[in-house]
Order: sequence, then structure tokens, then C-alpha cells
Amino acid sequence: MYGSQIFRDRKVLDESYIPDHLRVRASEAELLVGRYLNRFREGLGSTDISLIYGSLGKVGIGKTTLAKYVGLSLERETRRYGINFKHVYINTYSAPSMHQILTLIASQLELNISVRGSAVIEVLKAITDYLYRRDLYILVILDEFQSLLLSPRVDDDHLYLLLRIYEEIPAKDGINRINFLLVGQDFRIVSHMKERIPQVESQIGFRLYLKPYSKKELYDILEQRAEMALEPHAWNEYLLEMIADYYGYDEVKGGEGSARKAILTLRMAAELAEVKGASSIQEEHVRLALSENAVASIPLDDLRGLNTHELLILLSIASSTLEGKSLITTGELRDKYNEVAEFYGESPRGHTQFHVYLRNLGALGLIDLKPSGKGIKGRTTLIRLSPEIPADRLREAVESIILDRATPGRGRGSWM
Ligand SMILES: Nc1ncnc2c1ncn2[C@@H]1O[C@H](COP(=O)(O)OP(=O)(O)OP(=O)(O)O)[C@@H](O)[C@H]1O
Ligand SMILES: [Mg+2]
Repeated sequence: MYGSQIFRDRKVLDESYIPDHLRVRASEAELLVGRYLNRFREGLGSTDISLIYGSLGKVGIGKTTLAKYVGLSLERETRRYGINFKHVYINTYSAPSMHQILTLIASQLELNISVRGSAVIEVLKAITDYLYRRDLYILVILDEFQSLLLSPRVDDDHLYLLLRIYEEIPAKDGINRINFLLVGQDFRIVSHMKERIPQVESQIGFRLYLKPYSKKELYDILEQRAEMALEPHAWNEYLLEMIADYYGYDEVKGGEGSARKAILTLRMAAELAEVKGASSIQEEHVRLALSENAVASIPLDDLRGLNTHELLILLSIASSTLEGKSLITTGELRDKYNEVAEFYGESPRGHTQFHVYLRNLGALGLIDLKPSGKGIKGRTTLIRLSPEIPADRLREAVESIILDRATPGRGRGSWM
């Protein structure tokens, strides 16, 4: 059998994959698990409703993952204490009616009742009774809960009935076994709840607000996936850093902070490496994957606005990248630029001008300028092409712009 040189376990990079242990958000998960577990262990039941919601306008930041992980962890933990427990996951966006939700709860509990044609209250009674008979605790995760609140097909009374089931339909022994974990997009979920089901809103015991992921967090998430999904020789830390740097969120620079995009990019890069028959993922594969995900890969308008020497500097950086040297010092870049300029029949600009051009390229987001860390003598700046720009496509674009501008008889052809 032909085995992949790149992948050892592809499914680890699937959207639906949830690791057995979270390296990021582990403490949030623990907090939630602990709350429920303590209540179950006391045997008194609980009437807990918790809420997870995310930063406005941010997707792929782990809301669903955290909720499902809590459900799965609780199943593991309760087993150790001999508690019967199951979690039920419902994406209410694709089940925007009370009957659909009840049907899904019943089927995930393997409770054989016909929801169709029965009144909501009857179905809820059957569920409560079933849990009582089996002494079974459940956590119902209602994901995308805002779509249920915004749906005109769900009436407030039913929503109220479902979430306050313990009050309306107490179990025979008075122990409530249904708990809810609501997952919403952003803070607006709270005001929607206040409008539609204010009593339930006031009962939320625990609210967890999730921010977009930082570089460091994305790196940790990617590293865990890479260790499991890829062959050890097929990846390195630098490649993961490129992806994490690109998507990582911070207060000043912003950024998407999306684990979904970061993981997808890693998968695309790995697939590209595989298709191209490489024995490991190369920086170029990551750049290409990032550019596929980004809105525009080659910012042609920006390039056309550059003067010839800025283009030559950019071409020098792209060439270095293609030669496998992605981080270069200003000194190395100057040497390269001198060569490239000469090739195109241009006389290289002086030190000061050179630095002005570099800063301009940085300001346009075409290159990253980083102060050098340990290991390099003296202080210098390290330069690299922005991670989402594929070096080969950039080189082609820059060369063609330079050649368009060149006067006949001067340097022609391609550098490298
Ligand atoms: N802390 C984490 N550890 C490991 N993987 C994570 C983590 N957070 C998110 N992921 C991964 O990132 C992807 C997106 O996460 P998730 O679906 O939970 O985001 P979301 O906030 O629910 O997004 P949406 O707003 O689109 O619903 C998933 O594939 C998930 O496995
Ligand atoms: Mg989600």
C-alpha cells in the first residue's frame, strides 16, 4: 500500500474533530465541567443554565468546541463516579422549531416516542419521566441559540417550558436531571433573551465570554494538531508560527483569531505538499494556503503604486524566500538588492533611501519587519515576505511590472 509521506492521521484536521484534551481553554472547560459534576455528585439535581458567547463578529473561536468538549468530558468524568450521564448536542440553526428540537433530544436519548402530533408539554413529560426511570442526567447543548430566539416559529411559552422544565414538570422524586448549556454568537444573545424569556435570562448561572485566539493560543492549537495529524518530519515550528502570526488576534493589530481558519490553512498546506510530491511541507505551501484563504493574494494595485526600487527590493525578498531563506537580515537583503538592481540595469539607492523603502513596504503589509532576537550579532531587523503572499506569484507579478516599465535595451528577462 502506498502511504502518505505527509499525513499520519488526516481526520485530526477535519472541522468536526475535537481533541481528547484541549491545550487552549482547558481552564474554562474545567470550570464548567466542575460546576456540573459537583451538582450531579451531590445527587440533588440541578437547574443550571450556562451560557457561552463570543466576541462580536468573530467566528471559529471555539464556542462550539468548548461546549462539546464539556459534554464529552462530563461523560468521561461521571463514568468514574458511577453517575448516568449523557450530553445532547443540537445546532438550533438547523432545527429552528420546538418539535425538531424535541425530536433530536428524544432520538439522541434513544427514547422512542412520537413527537409529531404530540403537545410540547406531553413530550417534555415523557422525557422527564424517562430520565427519572433511568436515573439519567443530561446536558442539553443548544448551539447557535440566537437563531432560536430570533425564529418566529418558536413561541416564548414553549421556550420557557423547555428551559424551566424542572419547575413546570418536576420529576417524581423532585430531582431535576436536565441541564442546559446555551451557545450564542455574541453579547446580543443576552438582550434577545431579556426580551423573549426574561425569567430564564435572570437564571443564567454562568456566563463565559470567548475572545478571538491570540497568536500564542493558535500556535498551541496548531501544534497539537500537527503532532497528531502529520508525520514528524513533514512539519516544523516555523510553518505553524507563520499561520499563527497571520490569524492571531491582538488588541492593537486586530486579526481574525480563528482556529478554524488556522487549522484549515495547515490542512491545505499539507495537502498541497502531498499533491506536489514533496516529502515535507514547505514555506511556499503555507503561503499558498494562506493566500487561498485570504481575500486577495497578490495586491496588484499596491504593487503598481510602488517605485522601481521598492519593486526591486520586494523582488529580492521574494527571491530569497524561493531560495529557502525566508527570514533575512537587512545586510543580506542589501547585498541581494544590489545584485538584482544591477541585473535590471538600475543603480542601487543609498542606505537612507533603502530604509525608507523598506518601511514603506512594511506599512503596506507586503513585508514583515521584526527586530532580531537572540543568535544574531548586534541589532538588526529581520525581514520576510508577509505570510499570505505566495513568493512565486509575487515574483511573477513584480517582474512583469518592472519589465513593463523598463526602457528597451536595458536589463530584460527574469531574475533567477
Ligand atoms: N481550544 C481549541 N483547541 C483545539 N481546537 C480548537 C479549539 N478551539 C477551536 N478549535 C477548532 O477550531 C475549529 C472552529 O472552532 P468552533 O467550531 O468551535 O468555533 P465557533 O466559535 O463555534 O465558530 P462559529 O462562530 O462559526 O460557530 C474547530 O475545528 C475546532 O476543532
Ligand atoms: Mg459554532
